[in-house]
Amino acid sequence: MQLLDDSSFSIAAAARCLQEGQLVAFPTETVYGLGADATSDRAVAAIFSAKGRPQFNPLIVHLSEPDQAAGYVRLVEHSQALMRQFWPGPLTLVLPRLEDSAISLLCSSGLPSLAVRCPSHSLARELIDAAGLPIAAPSANRSGMISATMAEHVLESFSDSAEAIAAVVESGRCCQVGLESTVLDLTGEAPVILRPGGIVREEIEDVLGVRVFLSTEDPEKPKSPGQMTSHYAPRLPLRLNVEEPNEGEAFLGFGWPGAGVFCHANLSRAGDLHEAAANLFRLLWSLDHPETYAGIAVAPIPEEGLGIAINDRLRRAAAKR
Ligand code: TXA
Ligand code: MG
Repeated sequence: MQLLDDSSFSIAAAARCLQEGQLVAFPTETVYGLGADATSDRAVAAIFSAKGRPQFNPLIVHLSEPDQAAGYVRLVEHSQALMRQFWPGPLTLVLPRLEDSAISLLCSSGLPSLAVRCPSHSLARELIDAAGLPIAAPSANRSGMISATMAEHVLESFSDSAEAIAAVVESGRCCQVGLESTVLDLTGEAPVILRPGGIVREEIEDVLGVRVFLSTEDPEKPKSPGQMTSHYAPRLPLRLNVEEPNEGEAFLGFGWPGAGVFCHANLSRAGDLHEAAANLFRLLWSLDHPETYAGIAVAPIPEEGLGIAINDRLRRAAAKR
């Protein structure tokens, strides 16, 4: 695994690796992705094996330009309005796959749908454009572990299987959103959020003028196959909604912790949910030291706006493994 900077020379080298079917980790505005040529079965299979990812969990295909989507998926009702408003950006759309699509069937894990997104991070777009390929990219972490928002955490996550990844492209700028994209399913009667993320439900409803559901609200609605209860798990146990940590715990605060309460790290001193989202995975990585702490205690995060996505990640990180 070689570490590349964000020069044009490095991006060209990374693009060549992708064209040769190798894996390249790169930053997006949400989290680092582990990319591969989405049209190659062999390259896509290598993603599953490097991540230790179950084969039933489908992948998102990343495009450098919004209009490329029409080559791979059917642009059903609502899709174009959402692409116009939110692409490039942290919204993934699950749409019916075109039958003659060049995308490897492995990306869909046997489903008739395909998830597509056009990231807004300029380095990501430049790399995908230079490769001249649609790029399948899950978050660049071992399956079930904390997602990475820094190159350093990608290296740490894959330290046992570094040979599986050709390169990690590092960008000075940390992933701005910090949480994965919102995954919105448009294949059913009503739009359903399969995974809350960088774009919140109210923003989508404002554009579409129709009600948008959360998959958790309706047990009949199929959940995203990747939304297993335990996910994003640090090595240490996590306790949520904590006002005062126990002895030995690292305390991850949000807002002012209250007189006399010590925070080992703070998601946002100002109590700002965007700042908290951007810091979440980086701070979880930084506190996840079993040799120093007995656990991580996290302050309450309001269940509104981006807080819904933050709490979703925290609940999965705290879930029984
Ligand atoms: O922000 C992101 O989305 C990041 C960056 C790298 O773009 N990627 C990411 O990928 O989070 P991953 O593989 O960690 O999560 C993709 C999620 C999973 O929950 C998966 O089950 C769901 O999207 N998904 C992908 N294709 C799907 C499909 N056809 N139907 C339903 N869910 C799908
Ligand atoms: Mg992931």
